[in-house]
Amino acid sequence: MSLENYPKVATELPGPKSIEIFNRQDQVFYAQMHSGSTSPFIVDFKDADGLIHDMDGNTFANHMSAWGAAPYGPFPPEVRQAQIDAWDRYGMEISCFLQSPPVVELAERLVALAPKNITRVAPTVTGTEAVEGSIKLARECTGRPMILAFLGQYHGESTYLAASTSTELPGSPTGNAQYTPGLVFAPYPSSYRAPFTSGAGPHDDTVVIDYIESWLLRHQVEPTQIAAVLIEPIAGELGVYAPSQAFWDGLNRLREEHGWLLICDEIQSGMGRSGPVWAGDLWGLEPDMLLTGKGLAAGGQAMAAILGTDKVMADSHVYTTGTYVWEPAGVAAALAGLDLLDDAMRNALELEEIGREILAPLVSKYEQVGDVRQYGAWAAVEFVQDTVSQAPNRQAQHAFSQAALMRGVFAISSPEKWVYRMQPALTMQPELFRWSCEQMVEAAAEVLSD
Ligand SMILES: Cc1ncc(COP(=O)(O)O)c(C=O)c1O
Repeated sequence: MSLENYPKVATELPGPKSIEIFNRQDQVFYAQMHSGSTSPFIVDFKDADGLIHDMDGNTFANHMSAWGAAPYGPFPPEVRQAQIDAWDRYGMEISCFLQSPPVVELAERLVALAPKNITRVAPTVTGTEAVEGSIKLARECTGRPMILAFLGQYHGESTYLAASTSTELPGSPTGNAQYTPGLVFAPYPSSYRAPFTSGAGPHDDTVVIDYIESWLLRHQVEPTQIAAVLIEPIAGELGVYAPSQAFWDGLNRLREEHGWLLICDEIQSGMGRSGPVWAGDLWGLEPDMLLTGKGLAAGGQAMAAILGTDKVMADSHVYTTGTYVWEPAGVAAALAGLDLLDDAMRNALELEEIGREILAPLVSKYEQVGDVRQYGAWAAVEFVQDTVSQAPNRQAQHAFSQAALMRGVFAISSPEKWVYRMQPALTMQPELFRWSCEQMVEAAAEVLSD
């Protein structure tokens, strides 16, 4: 990529042409999709370098990559061609009812890619449906009603899952969890922001295991009522937090003791996003069900799946499918994506190194940067009032994200959040990622005080 093609922002954001379209948007969409809740420019097109061009001629490095659903850039040629060929051959099809060879091949390849205890696949369209389906399967398999989930996780927007979800967005947990039976919660384990402790970490996140054993199981729910533990091995929406090995050891002990299934929601963390194929590989996890989506789509059609063991799935007739499940062009795209995965993962590790080198020093330089986390092509910068209180600093995050945006770095951020997140294509050119990190260092220098 030549230097003159690097991102440039030459107008206010949004620029005048974007504003025209935003005005139309606000007339026709419901309030959640009004311009203030979406990104501050309208896309004109994307180029082969993966840059976004807005309606006003500004360009941005894309660190959102369709929230992880375009892991190989906007138009990987192999994926594009595979979709066209499959569509020409099979057209639209309801693949849970009328099958074709690629549908079976994708299931076989996913089983081969999964931890060795995984032998079966249930296809779904969205990640939300994969999580919903896994809960139905867990209840069927165990005959137990309850699911143990973790505060701060995100699993989707169905009525049920909105209840098992709590992000830091104001109001999102309110009015959901209390009307949905069948869930109990523990705080999400992390050594940076551990529950029941305060002050600068690292903290011992096995306090969450103690809480489950000594409080939850004693006072709220019988262990024999719990069908499954639902956990994101790395909690994406919460801010790319990961538990420690000691936490997983404790959880595995409880699983064994009480016969709980483990459902790993890898819809965001999997398919190479966090370094290995599955984030759970970082701790040698062997879940009973592993949920995949987003990156599985390879930038093609909506695709997700529940991968599971014989014990859970070999004899199950739970429905997880529907009209649009694994339609052939989407399946062909996913298969083409799997062929790109190894190279993409190698690139992601290069991005991880660059992030560690350039972004990690922000923590010692600025009191307002509490933590920088990087797993593969996934980075988070957490803003705090000060490192002792660790109180969220939304203002600093927002100022930082605006300064980065004006330099052409577009990532995952909103004014309510205090964690800024980068989720580029796994294949982003390392020079562009390095350039983006350098812009972030300049943005920090502009808006933070050392
Ligand atoms: C961890 C996790 N689970 C589930 C979902 C829901 O997936 P979808 O938006 O495809 O329904 C998401 C989406 O962001 C997610 O990050």
